Amino acid sequence: MSRELPSAASVWGKLWGVSVGPGDSEWLTLKGLQILQAADVVACPQNRDGEPGMAYGIVKSHLRPEQTILPLDLPFVRDPVQLQQAWTAAGETLVTRLAQGQDVVFITEGDASLYSTFSYVAQTVHHLAPTVDITTVPGVCSPLAAMAALNRPLSLGGEKIAILPALYDVSELTHALEWSEVVVLMKVASVFGQVWQTLHDLELLEQASLVEWVGSSQEKQYPSLVDLADYTPPYFSILIVRRHDYRF
Ligand SMILES: C[S@@+](CC[C@H](N)C(=O)[O-])C[C@H]1O[C@@H](n2cnc3c(N)ncnc32)[C@H](O)[C@@H]1O
Repeated sequence: MSRELPSAASVWGKLWGVSVGPGDSEWLTLKGLQILQAADVVACPQNRDGEPGMAYGIVKSHLRPEQTILPLDLPFVRDPVQLQQAWTAAGETLVTRLAQGQDVVFITEGDASLYSTFSYVAQTVHHLAPTVDITTVPGVCSPLAAMAALNRPLSLGGEKIAILPALYDVSELTHALEWSEVVVLMKVASVFGQVWQTLHDLELLEQASLVEWVGSSQEKQYPSLVDLADYTPPYFSILIVRRHDYRF
């Protein structure tokens, strides 16, 4: 990329990764809110139409009209080449702003440390401009929000938790259930039928729950999967299996 590097007298802006939670705008932390509102530029993943995406929708009521919104093209694809190109382009866009002394907040849905694009973009920024100060601000992640919505604990006592980010081979679920008492399945939509069948065969459908669009007005909860044999959940769904059921 060609860009003007700051002169000795000028100062680079700072980059924050602010976790905005999975849906409810009130799940943003006080620190996240303060940093978000102080920033010059609010960068966010864009949707398929090129408009600011889900993270923006969660926090837009907190933003000031003078703030610059910077949608970034970070597509939901698996092709490593396409992904790397997108992270590099996004990182370069942020570095251009940072080099002008602007403080940039990259808002990320859920928590910034849990399967978030922020990590890849921040790594690119660090590679291009190693002196830039980068800070991650934690927040509510979707597994915790889903269990809160169900009024159930994610884990208790000595229970081990396995988080499967995306299930491309359903045998991974069986393996996870062999060594952990709690299994969280993210990005489960495309394999939901196979997962349902596996849980049916293991007689675990009643111990499994599904939460869709947690924290948003479209939130739906299914405390048991028994009646969901032919169901197709949306991308923003999370499935949790607790071998030892616990309800209050
Ligand atoms: C790329 S991961 C992002 C995770 C996010 N950083 C977090 O902390 O929750 C996307 C997956 O997270 C889960 N997810 C994120 N937000 C959700 C929501 N509001 N409701 C249900 N599941 C959600 C879904 O399993 C979705 O496929």
